[in-house]
Amino acid sequence: MSTAVPSDRERPVTTSTLRAMKSAHRPIAMVTAYDVSSARLAEAAGVDAILVGDSLGMVVLGYDSTLPVTMDDMLRATAAVTRVTRRPLIVADMPFMSFQISPADALRNAGRLMAESGARAVKLEGGVEVAPTVARIHAAGIPVMGHIGLTPQSVHELGGYKVQAAETLSALRLLEDAHALQDAGCFAVVLECIPAELAAIVTAELAIPTIGIGAGAGCDGQVQVFHDLLGLGGDFKPRHARRYADAGAVIRDALAAYVGDVREGTMVTEDTCTRADPRVVAEVEAARLQGRASCRSGEA
Ligand code: KIV
Repeated sequence: MSTAVPSDRERPVTTSTLRAMKSAHRPIAMVTAYDVSSARLAEAAGVDAILVGDSLGMVVLGYDSTLPVTMDDMLRATAAVTRVTRRPLIVADMPFMSFQISPADALRNAGRLMAESGARAVKLEGGVEVAPTVARIHAAGIPVMGHIGLTPQSVHELGGYKVQAAETLSALRLLEDAHALQDAGCFAVVLECIPAELAAIVTAELAIPTIGIGAGAGCDGQVQVFHDLLGLGGDFKPRHARRYADAGAVIRDALAAYVGDVREGTMVTEDTCTRADPRVVAEVEAARLQGRASCRSGEA
């Protein structure tokens, strides 16, 4: 057994790691992932945390919002991600109606995400109104990440996917929400689609890390949706997402080359195909010519 002490790049990231990163002004890199391939790539790229976001409803399952996402969807996706990753902190989103009904129900569902899928933390949307729920889950020893600003599960209440807390009153409310989440025990909070100056104020006021998405450069870290970063989300591109690759075009061109090769009969090459023993081929041919329909006992 090796007694070597793992380096910072190998040691699993915990909520304390993220807190230490905030103190050391080391930006936290988080990305979503929903399956084995995206999770492996995210870990290999060196992300600190992976969010198994309920955005999977839109980018993987084809819904037009996150509302139809179920606990089963989240459990299956999170389990795939935790199965193949070691270092990043894996945070599982609590889907719509898995935490809103009562703190007891929320605790049961948070517990399932931890026990059945191997998540190491959960995330839920909302501010002051979910603080008692956060406190209940946190008291059971489950790390909770908050999420305020644009909260996609409330898209119909908010009247669309748009910037939040742009006015003085709503900005002050958001600040109050951030403090309520911290006081209830959140280890970090996502700030989605709020003005950069407000995100910087929240970041300076809180002791816990803020993770921004469309919230400017003044947060302690950033989170983005895997498909948005890599050009896998079709024509839709949120303003806050920077496209680092057009992987969609690369994959489409590769698949088109495959289709072309299949049509031309050039797809299968000698090194990808298994050849039979010539003796077996000769015996099969001979049996076929003798009209033997079956070699199974009791059959003709
Ligand atoms: O589900 C998700 O991907 C999210 C991020 C947008 C923060 O909640």
